[in-house]
Amino acid sequence: MNTNHTIIRLEKREEYRKVEHLVREAFWNVYRPGCSEHYVIHVLRDDPAFVKELDFVMRLSVQEHGPVDHSAAEKDGALIGQNMFMRTVINADDGRVIPVLTMGPICITPELKRHGYGKKLLDYSLEKAAAMGFGAVLFEGNIGFYGHSGFDYARNFGIRYHDLPEGADDSFFLCRELIPGYLDGITGVYQTPQGYYVDDGDVEAFDKLFPPKEKLRLPGQIF
Ligand SMILES: CC(C)(COP(=O)(O)OP(=O)(O)OC[C@H]1O[C@@H](n2cnc3c(N)ncnc32)[C@H](O)[C@@H]1OP(=O)(O)O)[C@@H](O)C(=O)NCCC(=O)NCCS
Repeated sequence: MNTNHTIIRLEKREEYRKVEHLVREAFWNVYRPGCSEHYVIHVLRDDPAFVKELDFVMRLSVQEHGPVDHSAAEKDGALIGQNMFMRTVINADDGRVIPVLTMGPICITPELKRHGYGKKLLDYSLEKAAAMGFGAVLFEGNIGFYGHSGFDYARNFGIRYHDLPEGADDSFFLCRELIPGYLDGITGVYQTPQGYYVDDGDVEAFDKLFPPKEKLRLPGQIF
């Protein structure tokens, strides 16, 4: 699969519902029976911590040839991925409040998983976040995927996950500096932005706006 034939650009308001549909398809039955991520993005877009300059969609690109000179222009094709970021903080042990980013949901359409599109979208997004001057990104994820894009366990930066009992497995909690050395000399606790915590009843109600889909209990789910 050639990942060159893609366009990554900011999400447009008129494609919000299509993106929510994509997210629902990508996350459905992956981490739990059904999923909540399509509702999470619906809510996060209106959150003050949402970074609208880093709200990306990935589409396949279609070549369109001009009628006279046959010059080729790239045009939006199928929607295949999305990624977004939120502002949050590390409450440092010395009392400082360190601004950082968190990321996600990120997804690639199920038919095109494991063809390199996710890594391409992730690397592009991180480049743009770095260009905006953000110092570090922290979130919950699988090192198997994010390790390819420079992420390491957050514990190796001296950062702890909020509300996690001491000695509990924290290998899900990842970090990457966007400014080298940004977290030097800092230890502290990362906070997940409140916007990610959604009510199950609200998820159920929102999900009714989409075509019915079977919830399954599958191996590997974590909730
Ligand atoms: C996770 C996701 C965004 C990755 O995108 P992708 O296009 O499938 O991944 P890529 O092909 O770019 O992966 C690059 C490498 O990362 C690794 N990788 C990808 N997905 C992985 C996973 N779920 N677990 C472990 N390693 C993974 C692989 O090493 C892969 O290379 P390989 O296929 O040669 O082994 C996508 O699979 C997805 O949408 N999954 C469902 C939703 C989800 O889990 N989102 C992330 C929430 S934290």
